[in-house]
Amino acid sequence: MIISGKDLAASLKAAMAEQVAAFPEQYGRVPHLVVILVGEDPGSQTYVRNKEKACEVVGLKHTTYRLPADTSEAAVLDLIASLNADDGVDGILVQLPLPAQISEPKVIEAIAHEKDVDGFHPLNTAALWQKRPNASCTVPCTPEGIIKLLEAGGVEIAGKHAVVLGRSQIVGLPVAKLLLDRNATVTICHSRTRDLASVTRQADILVVAIGRAKFVTGDMVKDGAAVIDVGMDRDENGKLCGDVDFASVEPKASVITPVPGGVGPMTICCLMENAIGCFLRKMQNR
Ligand code: GUN
Repeated sequence: MIISGKDLAASLKAAMAEQVAAFPEQYGRVPHLVVILVGEDPGSQTYVRNKEKACEVVGLKHTTYRLPADTSEAAVLDLIASLNADDGVDGILVQLPLPAQISEPKVIEAIAHEKDVDGFHPLNTAALWQKRPNASCTVPCTPEGIIKLLEAGGVEIAGKHAVVLGRSQIVGLPVAKLLLDRNATVTICHSRTRDLASVTRQADILVVAIGRAKFVTGDMVKDGAAVIDVGMDRDENGKLCGDVDFASVEPKASVITPVPGGVGPMTICCLMENAIGCFLRKMQNR
């Protein structure tokens, strides 16, 4: 079975749109998400356009700062400081990667943790790792979207062996923690893992986030595995594809996510949820 992230995201966004439509009466306004994009990375531009589209569908106010690639770190930090201080801004997202002259950790730490819709701030990271994530912290969007895809696909997580390929702060590490919280036995693999295929073949749930086109092939996957493809790559013909070789893996998988239309739309959907969450925590704590 192919799990459509596109369809799942559309239905979740429709429900959020209904929720947001009541906010002007309840709270006097709708949530406001600000996105900062530095430079012209084509992938980042696509992500940011999709974020803007999703805000329109859900009914969130959105502002995008498109800054030139040579913008200084100080200028980005100044902008973040002014957005932190602006009571009319509920969520701040700085699109990654950033140009080399700007420190990503510095920028991430500069965002007020209560406006950190990505869940990348050290306080949100600590909340994720120190306890079961709860309603008072923001969980990173792609990992949260992956859990929703597994749930929508009817995949049982508890007691299963989940193998995560990739150990990034954005996907690999947090998704491993979310799977652990749901009582999976989790293995994290990376570029130095020996005999990778012997590990991936043990996976009941295989999450692939390494950024290498069609890297996982059918011989690396156990019959009946649930396969989640986080990749956004280009194949030899320049066509968009994932980290999983769909043609050889799909016949073996019990469920699998396509690229495009799998994890990507769910990331954006969870970003909308996080923006609403930041807004509601603010309004309900007044
Ligand atoms: N670049 C790739 N994925 C992400 C994400 O989830 N958030 C941000 N801010 N940048 C990204």
